[in-house]
Amino acid sequence: MPGADGPYPLPSDAEEAARLETQYLLLKFCFDGQFTFAPVNLVDGDKVLDCGCGSGVSLHAFTRLRLKGLWTLDLARSFASSTGVSFTGIDINPSMFPTDIPPSVSFDVHSVLSLPSSWTSRFTLINQRFLIGGLTVFQWPVALRELYRVLKPGGWVQLMESSMGCEPEEDGVERTRAERLICALLTKRGCLVSDRFATIESMLSDAGFRDIRVVEKVYSDVQWTAEQREANRALFLSVMRGIEPAVLREGLESEEGYEQLMHETQRDKNLGMTGGIGKVIVFCAQKLDV
Ligand SMILES: C[S@@+](CC[C@H](N)C(=O)[O-])C[C@H]1O[C@@H](n2cnc3c(N)ncnc32)[C@H](O)[C@@H]1O
Repeated sequence: MPGADGPYPLPSDAEEAARLETQYLLLKFCFDGQFTFAPVNLVDGDKVLDCGCGSGVSLHAFTRLRLKGLWTLDLARSFASSTGVSFTGIDINPSMFPTDIPPSVSFDVHSVLSLPSSWTSRFTLINQRFLIGGLTVFQWPVALRELYRVLKPGGWVQLMESSMGCEPEEDGVERTRAERLICALLTKRGCLVSDRFATIESMLSDAGFRDIRVVEKVYSDVQWTAEQREANRALFLSVMRGIEPAVLREGLESEEGYEQLMHETQRDKNLGMTGGIGKVIVFCAQKLDV
């Protein structure tokens, strides 16, 4: 089970920041350039929160051009003419926060499990993406209640999660050994795995949200270019390297076994199409305008 620092198994360093940025751009392509799914129309005075925002990019790659890869900054750019909208990114780990940021954007260390009390009814839009490895099954309802609290009445939350290849093995589709290991790690750390994703919908409802909308995309159905397939491969291999210490700590594999698995995964011909992402699911939901 997770320690006091939570179940999150990936590192927070320059390589991970670069991976998150590439992943962001691939996911944006996957959804035809769309990155905001909630039906909000931001106006001056509105505040936006990116929860578990994670990444900047590696410092040596820190140019304005590359910064556009971050959700908070991407959204801030699309509202560049509207100076009255402000954007806050929060994460439990500040290591990947960018420093070269526009004045309307700020980053702060907080856990989604305990947001500042002064933030009640503050945000018009909240984005939270890929916290599946960061929250246990029991922490999800706490997190969703916090998100509900800090939303303005009428505000929207959007959650994007990936099944990480943890779909039930049906229709003769077998999971790879790497995918099975990721599922085992998530399960051991008490996290949600994909066959329990449906519970996010009911947890949103229990937290008070209404008008819950779900969009799904199968990652391998996307027409990836050769370059994107290569990026997908590299992303998954980087995830596999990133979770290695957690897998060894949990006793799910030996060091030699892990190296063997890495070689096997490198040879996996489908990796460029799946990128280890599986199904991408977006949940949007509204706090009632009371
Ligand atoms: C897979 S990364 C995703 C980062 C970013 N949302 C993205 O999609 O590029 C997950 C992030 O969640 C953060 N995290 C884990 N547990 C958290 C918590 N309880 N509250 C806030 N952030 C958390 C991790 O530190 C990490 O930066």
